[in-house]
Amino acid sequence: MRRSLVVGNWKMNGTLASAKSLAEAIVSGIENTNADIAVCPPFVYLRDIDQILQGSHLKFGSQNVADQESGAYTGEISASMLKDINCTYAIVGHSERRSYYGDTNESVAERFSQALSQGIIPILCVGETLEQREQEKTFQVVDAQLDAVINLAGIASFEKAVIAYEPVWAIGTGKTASDEQAQEVHQYIRQQIAKRDQSIADKIQILYGGSVKPDNAKGLFAMADIDGGLIGGASLDAESFLKIYNSI
Ligand code: 13P
Repeated sequence: MRRSLVVGNWKMNGTLASAKSLAEAIVSGIENTNADIAVCPPFVYLRDIDQILQGSHLKFGSQNVADQESGAYTGEISASMLKDINCTYAIVGHSERRSYYGDTNESVAERFSQALSQGIIPILCVGETLEQREQEKTFQVVDAQLDAVINLAGIASFEKAVIAYEPVWAIGTGKTASDEQAQEVHQYIRQQIAKRDQSIADKIQILYGGSVKPDNAKGLFAMADIDGGLIGGASLDAESFLKIYNSI
């Protein structure tokens, strides 16, 4: 039986004050520890959030990590810096990074490896655009995104990683994949991992992301290969985020 995981991706939202009060409200609202739960605030708030989470069930992650170990990479944050501040997870390859900031399958694979090298659990985001779905290229796109990471880091590296399937057309649009559409891709991803290592495929948490809300979470999370969610908009409201977590 896989443990479920719900992660809030706060993206570039909030102030220090609102980030702290959101984290406080989530910590005080967690009623059960049957599943894992984490938030990914903006980098500059991570240390303050860490103070609030001490001793609670809530973990934190970053929204990105550098593809290099250290050096002259202005504006980047390395995995060892994140390790220094007790970061548990690092999102890599979010579609917003891929489309606005030029992250490629190869640089995402490097980010994934950098996170792992410091014992940080990478949350590898994969997913197709609407155009790619309409051209029936979903599996092909997901394959290329996964293969780049498997080729660089090896299948064994997925022992300590999380995958998030986020169809780009469902992110921030209010348009969720149906339970069956999401399950179809989750099952495919698990099969691709199973072809290389069955025991990792059985264990790996595969999250769904894209307009998950309190009213659609239950159906999605009930699907066989959906092990939780990566939540954007609805994670900025403690009550919604907790409702989603509690629907596991
Ligand atoms: P929304 O939940 O706002 O659609 O965002 C999903 C997402 O991008 C999480 O990483």
